Amino acid sequence: DWTPDSFVESTVQKLKEQLGNDKVVLGLSGGVDSTVAATLLSKAIGDNLYCIFVNNGLLRKNEFENVLSQYKGMGLNVKGVDASARFLKELAEEADPEGKRKIIGRVFIEVFDDEAHLIEDVKWLAQGTIYPDVIESVSATGGPSATIKSHHNVGGLPDFMKLKIVEPLKMLFKDEVRRVGASLGIDSELLGRHPFPGPGLAIRILGDITAEKVRILQEVDAIFINGLKEWGLYNDVWQAGAILLPVNSVGVMGDERTYEKVVALRAVESTDGMTADWVNLPYEFLQKTSNQIINGVKGVNRVVYDISSKPPATIEWE
Ligand code: XMP
Repeated sequence: DWTPDSFVESTVQKLKEQLGNDKVVLGLSGGVDSTVAATLLSKAIGDNLYCIFVNNGLLRKNEFENVLSQYKGMGLNVKGVDASARFLKELAEEADPEGKRKIIGRVFIEVFDDEAHLIEDVKWLAQGTIYPDVIESVSATGGPSATIKSHHNVGGLPDFMKLKIVEPLKMLFKDEVRRVGASLGIDSELLGRHPFPGPGLAIRILGDITAEKVRILQEVDAIFINGLKEWGLYNDVWQAGAILLPVNSVGVMGDERTYEKVVALRAVESTDGMTADWVNLPYEFLQKTSNQIINGVKGVNRVVYDISSKPPATIEWE
């Protein structure tokens, strides 16, 4: 009979035998899959697991700092690499959604490859691949593994991709990964996190990306997500986020006419991301959140709520 405890026990044993004293590198994303994979491997081989957590500058507000210290608190051998400036520079003036994804995928691989080279005599690349990633080509959960898969055939393999691959979650579904994570003692808040796309806020800033737009969207997103948590709505929603639209709208403030940004809020129910329904959030919640955003975030004067389901509307706007 499959139980999370027996899975942990037998997997840790197998990893010990398979890896011996070898060094392993793994990219952490802050998501459930890579975190559970890292925790299992760390249990098996300790500090021979080298985790790399890259800040692409497109994460949620304070996410890099918060998640990095959480990882350290869990005893993982993790290095945080802040490559925000490099990503932003390479993304400058790119407005096309697929163009943004390509740049982010390429730069991630370059940064990760540089870091992997710093680990002497590394033999393995670990990935948090789960069963649905194996049967579909594109991961709905995002993270480094998804990024690597869709871009690895551009211009020859980077060195880290020539490493032997170890994927301890390959036979598991998402709910099983969460149960394994709970059995490993991983914080339930971390395990219950919404999916977040690998390209991050880049595909929620429609059009070109600037540091100022990232800042605005991080503020808006934080108000929305914290509000969902405060109102006890977070766990009823499969995924939520804010989108910065590439239009300005007219507003009034005192006697002044303003001409500022519009943001859309999106919250969906889903089981796998393939289909999704917009969530009927309470009006009082939307009202409070809208006021908080407009009063609190400079540069935004209008908030709209996305009431489109998938299909035909996708969850992300880009
Ligand atoms: P859509 O927008 O296609 O999204 O309805 C379905 C799920 O996939 C996520 N998503 C991505 N994840 N890289 C990722 O790692 C991407 O380029 C990407 N695009 C969409 C989206 O957040 C949702 O969970």
